[in-house]
Amino acid sequence: MNNDKIFYITTPIYYVNDIPHIGHAYTTIACDTISRYKRMKGYDVHFLTGTDEHGQKIQTAAEAKGQTPQQLVDEIHLNFKRLWEVLNISNDDFIRTTEPRHIKIVQAIFKKLIEQGDIYKGTYSGYYCVPCENYVPESSMGENKTCPDCGRPLTIMEEESYFFRASKYVPDLIKFYEEHVKAVMPKIRYNEIMSFLKSGVKDQSVSRTTLKWGIPVPGDEKHVIYVWFDALINYMSAMGYIDDPEKFSRYWPHVRHMVGKDIIRFHCVTWPLMLIALGINLPVEIIAHGWWTREGDKMSKSKGNVVDPFEMVKEYGLDPFRYFLLREVPFGNDGDFSELALVGRINSDLANDLGNLLNRTLQMIKSYREGVVPSCVNPQSELSELALKTLENVDNAMNNYSFDEALKLIWELIGRANKFIDETTPWKLAKDEAQNERLDFVLLNLYEALRLSALLIAPTMPDTAKRIWQQLGLEGEPVKMLYEDFSWGQGAGKTINKAEVLFPRIDINEWKKSREEKKKLEEVKEEVKEEKIEHEAEISIDDFKTVEMRVAKIINVEEIPRSKKLYKLEVDLGYEKRTVCSGIKAFFTPEELNGRTVVLVTNLKPVKLCGVESNGMILAASVKHDGVSEKLTLLEPADKDIPLGSRVS
Ligand code: MSP
Repeated sequence: MNNDKIFYITTPIYYVNDIPHIGHAYTTIACDTISRYKRMKGYDVHFLTGTDEHGQKIQTAAEAKGQTPQQLVDEIHLNFKRLWEVLNISNDDFIRTTEPRHIKIVQAIFKKLIEQGDIYKGTYSGYYCVPCENYVPESSMGENKTCPDCGRPLTIMEEESYFFRASKYVPDLIKFYEEHVKAVMPKIRYNEIMSFLKSGVKDQSVSRTTLKWGIPVPGDEKHVIYVWFDALINYMSAMGYIDDPEKFSRYWPHVRHMVGKDIIRFHCVTWPLMLIALGINLPVEIIAHGWWTREGDKMSKSKGNVVDPFEMVKEYGLDPFRYFLLREVPFGNDGDFSELALVGRINSDLANDLGNLLNRTLQMIKSYREGVVPSCVNPQSELSELALKTLENVDNAMNNYSFDEALKLIWELIGRANKFIDETTPWKLAKDEAQNERLDFVLLNLYEALRLSALLIAPTMPDTAKRIWQQLGLEGEPVKMLYEDFSWGQGAGKTINKAEVLFPRIDINEWKKSREEKKKLEEVKEEVKEEKIEHEAEISIDDFKTVEMRVAKIINVEEIPRSKKLYKLEVDLGYEKRTVCSGIKAFFTPEELNGRTVVLVTNLKPVKLCGVESNGMILAASVKHDGVSEKLTLLEPADKDIPLGSRVS
């Protein structure tokens, strides 16, 4: 393989002190998309992600949960692995900084830098929060030198520390960046880094004695290595630095890091300085993206407005979520996550533009050519010209990590194809025998526009591309194809499959209504949380045993004319049938109740309710607010095959 066609891309490794959120999803989806794109361009791609598992944050989070740090990281890193599966991420490796392959390399590098005099022992002094056991940089201190986390006053603390001689290599790094102006992207971040470098960089403290959860300094184990020094090295340790020189020398010269704008100093200053000291090539590109807000607000756990990627995928589907993140804002800029905007894009870009093009084209091939894509002598057209130009322009955009621009270009092609239908009016051509060849030409062109669109959207929306591919009657999977193999007209002779709706339109009024209901329920839940929970007096197991509960099936539901709240239910206990009045009318229609298997209290004294004798009580859980049930759910046995009449205890 051509040596220029190698691409090694990394995400930051994520802290496991918290659950994954949109920020994590965003970088990883962007890296996944560029990896898939490069693979389709014939590159040998290596895509790395992982988790950052040492440091104060992890130690504190573990203490709060009553776990050891190791237990915490073993548990939480799985959330990230699960999210990458849900988001269809095609990473080639996943590194954890607690793995031996990483620890070994970090210690070897630390030792090497000590030996060559680039790490030395000194005294670290800084503002320290004693309760949080944490140094606080001046830039993040609260008013009157207080801790940004707990608000208590900070004290100046001194400790013995190892220092990395960062200052020594700053001139080399400035020179490198002057010669490689695209090494940090976008330009605004490049300028930021250059002015930071020129303002002077101090030697950096790279060990701690106040913390236990970290990689020990080799030969001086009362120190652990500072978490950022440890974390940055993951990019090398996962690549087999020392252990697999062949792999390392193959991929390292092509390494690119994608990061959020908040961590560029570590990546564009500390890390390259470490690499210069080690005599190792600097990253080809460091690409910084912006931050997401939610409906205009900064996201934070305390505000409860953090976008949960699992929830978004469940609600709107994976590919719409991936598409939205990359299409909505230029990579590098900050962006606002609004669900209304997401719904808007689903309806207009996905359902209308792409979905309709597919549907109309397939219907016409089916109706006018019995489902077989026609051939024609010269399939070149205005559409084919635009398509080939789109391939080229998308490539330029992708090489600049302009995902939004690439998608815009693809949608221009889709829009042009839709217009091509309106202009060529195939339904009129189909009525005129003399226009047979023209109709063949039109249908083949539309089919080819769709085939190319599927290939072009595949890196961003792999599943959707596959669904289009299948409907077009093509073998294999778009993500496994090469762009260079595409040529206009090849699709002639293919037999299409049944047309299916790609993205159902979301009814905006219904959506708004359900949003409001959801919001109301959330508010009630919050209020309920704050309400005092009233507990009943203690009872003995013998008291409890006097309540007879059995599995029953609802076999008939009737309204009680005099009652707004009650239903008259007939239930089957297997050994007998009974009538029960139940106050659940506000929550269910009769159809929703009929046939359900429930739990019935069978030894309650019969009572007459609205003129009907009730013989038992159906169990349900409810959220009550001011004594009124706001939400209610029936208790049902998990295994519906359990015989009716079985005792619940
Ligand atoms: N562990 C370090 C990285 C070490 S890399 C050698 C770290 N982890 S993190 O989990 O806190 O953050 C990871 C990434 O999430 C960062 O790139 C950060 O920019 C990104 N985001 C966190 N919140 C974000 C948004 N609201 N929007 C977009 N990205 C954001 O930092």
